[in-house]
Amino acid sequence: MVRFELNGKAVSVDADPSTPLLWALRDNLNLTGTKFGCGMALCGACTVHLNGDAIRSCTTPISAVANQKITTIEAQSTDRIGRAVTDAWVKHDVAQCGYCQSGQIMSAVSLLKGKKNPSDTDIDAAMAGNVCRCGTYTRVREAIKDAAKAIA
Ligand code: FES
Ligand code: FES
Repeated sequence: MVRFELNGKAVSVDADPSTPLLWALRDNLNLTGTKFGCGMALCGACTVHLNGDAIRSCTTPISAVANQKITTIEAQSTDRIGRAVTDAWVKHDVAQCGYCQSGQIMSAVSLLKGKKNPSDTDIDAAMAGNVCRCGTYTRVREAIKDAAKAIA
């Protein structure tokens, strides 16, 4: 049994400690907002926060998050910065197919929690691991800048 905090609540997962966090979230805890893309830490679709930092849940075993804080896309509507980012995403009509977008938003929220007014270079560095086959990169950048203004 592995215990951790998920979106502010204590949870326990009865699974092998080597189970990827992504599978525990989706299959054991029924939170399907976090997506599987590559399974090899290459696309960013599975991004969640570990103690506020963006991580790839597909390659993070649940043993690595024991007694720590995990936050997912499902908690963003009640987070001040998460709300600002998702509002900006809607305003800029960022999503196309949508598959990469929960990972994109989680990386953007992590960036804005650490940097109030990120430069283009900061944004490119923070978002470099989030791949979008629909090519929404320009709108992602504009939405992050808009969210930063709204938060300020
Ligand atoms: S599914 Fe985790 S990085 Fe692609
Ligand atoms: S919106 Fe389709 S993959 Fe990014």
